[in-house]
Amino acid sequence: MSLDDLNSRTVSRKHLLGIEGFGKQDITTLLDVADTYAASNEQLRKSTDLLKGMTQVNLFFENSTRTLISFELAGKRHGMDVVNFNATSSSLAKGETLSDTLETVDAMQPDVLVVRHGKSGITTALADHVNCILVNAGDGTNEHPTQALLDALTIRRHLGGFEGKTIAICGDILHSRVAGSNIRLLSRMGANVRLVGPKDFLPTDGQFDAALFDSMDEGIKDADAVMMLRIQKERMDTTTAPSEDDYHTHYGLTKERLKLANDHAIVMHPGPMNRGVEIASDVADDKNRSVILEQVAMGVAVRMAVLDVFTRPLRNT
Ligand code: NCD
Repeated sequence: MSLDDLNSRTVSRKHLLGIEGFGKQDITTLLDVADTYAASNEQLRKSTDLLKGMTQVNLFFENSTRTLISFELAGKRHGMDVVNFNATSSSLAKGETLSDTLETVDAMQPDVLVVRHGKSGITTALADHVNCILVNAGDGTNEHPTQALLDALTIRRHLGGFEGKTIAICGDILHSRVAGSNIRLLSRMGANVRLVGPKDFLPTDGQFDAALFDSMDEGIKDADAVMMLRIQKERMDTTTAPSEDDYHTHYGLTKERLKLANDHAIVMHPGPMNRGVEIASDVADDKNRSVILEQVAMGVAVRMAVLDVFTRPLRNT
């Protein structure tokens, strides 16, 4: 495919609220464009003026390291004006509703609003309240679409594709928006998705197009990629978190346990990691298997692709 062809492709939705609603073709477009940014990010000079004069506002109501910095870098590498909004210093503390806050920011005419919030479904509920393009940077336990896209890009670079590949997503699936978006994306692209963890952390059978395993050894057997997730205590209402030592014994990814997966299997983690709990330090740091820092690098490329592709309809008018 030519660069011109790639530069003219668009996606079927105005907003990026979740992987739900995106088909194979949309996902492939975003990954193909992100691949070009993965290459340009390796150059000394990484910025262009592709989106110069356009504005991106990052509204983060929850803590973030990787996602916030990479969205900011992505906007800046496109030459955008980027504003980060600190929720703790906002008028929300004075009783303003979230939709009023969003409408207020939208009235300042940004082109893209990137929102992270603790309430599941909030970005979808508020999408009709804004004129600009809305990007979900994580909503409660629901979706984190750019994380799934960066994970998919990393997987595609290592495994060559998705069809027939076995991806084991392990740990606290129930409270993980990363898992939610990844399951939707990977199953749509033809991968065999396994969800592995203690029963309390697994969704109900049939909720997703994925096989459930409460034995870690069985769940990662012959897998092509093993994706580890943190125990997300702050997102739990009723489940009680297991003891860390116990958890590590039964569900921690150790060097010994990793031998059960395919010889070429990659080890992934969206971060933040809890070393010694869901993943042993020597596995996380094993440069031959762990692609955790590559995932971070792909995060910038994917977010550049999202900003580029989703603003194409605006730039083409
Ligand atoms: C994740 C998140 O915030 O959902 N982090 C991230 O964006 N890389 C995962 C987590 O919090 O465990």
